[in-house]
Amino acid sequence: MDGNGRWAKKRGLPRQAGHKVGAETFRTIATYCKDIGVKYFTVYAFSTENWKRPPEEVGALMELFRRYLKEAAETMYERGVAVRVLGDLSPLPQDILDLIRETDRIADSLGPDAATASLCINYGGRDEIKNAVRALAKEVESGEKRAADITEDDIAHHLYTAHMPDPDLIIRPSGEIRTSNFLLWQSAYAEYYFTPVLWPDFKTSDMDAAIEAFNQRNRRFGGV
Ligand code: FPP
Repeated sequence: MDGNGRWAKKRGLPRQAGHKVGAETFRTIATYCKDIGVKYFTVYAFSTENWKRPPEEVGALMELFRRYLKEAAETMYERGVAVRVLGDLSPLPQDILDLIRETDRIADSLGPDAATASLCINYGGRDEIKNAVRALAKEVESGEKRAADITEDDIAHHLYTAHMPDPDLIIRPSGEIRTSNFLLWQSAYAEYYFTPVLWPDFKTSDMDAAIEAFNQRNRRFGGV
């Protein structure tokens, strides 16, 4: 959800104002995805590197999660979308962990086939792979598994996205052309779409344009 800060700056507003509109865009686009049949929609909300931002901004983002997580889960529940949170949640404050638990409970009540909108919080692709390696190393240490038997599926099953398919399309808004540690393992065969639109300005028509571009791609998955 990149470009919130620049969106706010262009309007002479504090960066947090951009994050607030960005949170609304999340709800709009997540709902749209469900309506057009995209079963999994995943956004990057807070990276393992975002803790380096000024404490006021980190605090404001935590406040945003506090304020919008339950509200988002409830609105999305009414629209039939399960909100999930992915990432290393261990350093988050207890009240946010409680909200995430509540979000999970609401999402569970929609059943396993519901469309899912996931928010990656304290997520980092490398950190995720490191944690998967540690978990597998433990299984090897305890004799439960042989190192030579570790498969790609074993790794995938130890990622936060274990219950989800790999992404087909990754959209990066705001004009930056890099992956920034997002879904590193899962994106092996994803199609990328870069757009200069700042996330708070991202509309359903921008989603249509991204999907249209995706539909023009010739996906070969390493074949011919
Ligand atoms: C990147 O823009 C955006 C973030 C670091 C935060 C995104 C988080 C939200 C919108 C909150 C969502 C919460 C819910 C519950 C839906 P940036 O600050 O890096 O923008 P810039 O590159 O223009 O400075």
